Amino acid sequence: MNIQITTTEDGSHTLYNKTLGEHYHSTFGAIQESQHIFIEAGLNALEKKSGSINILEIGFGTGLNALLTYQELMKKTYKINYVAIEPFMLDKSIYIQLNYADLLKSKTLQDIFIKIHETPCNVPHFISDSFILNKIEGKLQELELSENAFDLVYFDAFSPEIQPELWDADIFKAIYASMKNNSILTTYSAKGIVKRALKSAGFEIENLPGPIGKRQITRARKAILMSDCHHHLTK
Ligand SMILES: C[S@@+](CC[C@H](N)C(=O)[O-])C[C@H]1O[C@@H](n2cnc3c(N)ncnc32)[C@H](O)[C@@H]1O
Repeated sequence: MNIQITTTEDGSHTLYNKTLGEHYHSTFGAIQESQHIFIEAGLNALEKKSGSINILEIGFGTGLNALLTYQELMKKTYKINYVAIEPFMLDKSIYIQLNYADLLKSKTLQDIFIKIHETPCNVPHFISDSFILNKIEGKLQELELSENAFDLVYFDAFSPEIQPELWDADIFKAIYASMKNNSILTTYSAKGIVKRALKSAGFEIENLPGPIGKRQITRARKAILMSDCHHHLTK
């Protein structure tokens, strides 16, 4: 793979895909970006705070979102089922160099990070008693997602300029169908074309302030009102 490790402004690593000319994270800071968009605006914005939370990640990449989710879980009492889709799993020679757990100053997280990467694909595995991970090796657009399954979606594909086929209304419709009522999807893109595609799939859109270096991000909510349910039932 044509991949190079680079350091972002908060000191955390990211990867640069030379063929695509695209970084895996914001060069203003990989950890601060992921923490802001996926943990604060996603996981910590869920109303559900007990039982099991089912998360779908589009683009597992470095495993940073999974690691930060695990770190957050250590402070919580719920359990997480984490499904992550990725067609290009990283070589060990790359992921062992990534400095996330060092910066998070945790030996536990270092062990977890390695375990997250070494866990085989396409089967759910217990990373701990409360964190089950299923990495799916494949392309989002070629997979069939379970319906009504997820509480939270981390949409972290490469940008709409690089991968327009993933930021498409039909893909968002399939993701919408895979989500439960009152669930959320968070993503770093605030492009008009993305928001329009999300809306046409049925989502309600919120514009939120972005992390350092980015004005806005998008949170999309699947919220079916009870009156809509009634309407469907009586139609
Ligand atoms: C912006 S990077 C983010 C990765 C990851 N969330 C992280 O924190 O490192 C986008 C990821 O999407 C993956 N990807 C590329 N094509 C994909 C596809 N068709 N379906 C799902 N993921 C894809 C890339 O390989 C890359 O790992």
